[in-house]
Amino acid sequence: MSAKTAEIQANLIPVYIMGKRYDVPESLTIMKAMEYAGFKFIRGCGCRGGICGACGTVYRLPGDYHIRVGLACQTVVQPEMYLTQIPFYPANRAVFTWDDLKGEAEEVFKVYPELFRCLACNACSKVCPMDIQVMDYVAAIKRGDLDKAAEISFDCIQCGLCATRCMAEMSQYHIAQMVRRIRGKFIAVPSEHCDKQVEAIISGYYDKFLQEVMGLGTLDPMQQDQVTDDIKKLKDLYNQRQMEPGTSENEWTPDSDHALLK
Ligand code: FES
Repeated sequence: MSAKTAEIQANLIPVYIMGKRYDVPESLTIMKAMEYAGFKFIRGCGCRGGICGACGTVYRLPGDYHIRVGLACQTVVQPEMYLTQIPFYPANRAVFTWDDLKGEAEEVFKVYPELFRCLACNACSKVCPMDIQVMDYVAAIKRGDLDKAAEISFDCIQCGLCATRCMAEMSQYHIAQMVRRIRGKFIAVPSEHCDKQVEAIISGYYDKFLQEVMGLGTLDPMQQDQVTDDIKKLKDLYNQRQMEPGTSENEWTPDSDHALLK
């Protein structure tokens, strides 16, 4: 079946993007449906894989008072949904001098005193597209258990939707990011492997490889053969990369003598 035939056969459903009706194929994600409708993303779109948090979206369904949320790149359109994206939310992000920190909970309290305005309504957890128990990590921070708060918030993708619903006007995701950084510096067991990798990067171990990859970016349409060749080489490099196994009993570290680096 040709792409054209597939398009004709696709079942179109009405959705309302920022109040205007568009008919889009029913199987598309919100992001793809918006592109189908003619929108071009210059903000509010990053990884397209549910990881970067750039595409927070709010929507309502007909006959339902609930405001719903999702990631535009992951949520499939539904008939008659009213939607808009919230690619950026102006939330408070504290300014502090990292080198002055000692890794104590009081330092978080000082720059984010609004933590103690939490009413425990749990709207933040309910809105989280990553199913993080946001209210629980806020409670952990308040009792000084930064390790626990970092663990609970680990999957946060910084979409900011929690802050949009917070009655205490907190920016939970920025607070949790500070806490995870404190944990990384002061609480977590140092990672020997990470230190070695940083040393390798600083020493220039990867420079030759990176220069080669960066040189494969020909975009000149007049050099179509070169563009095709570069794309093929980049795809080959991508396919040959080292990947951490999905499941493994043993601790895994990348092979620093991998063929790609030779
Ligand atoms: S585009 Fe990255 S999470 Fe949707």
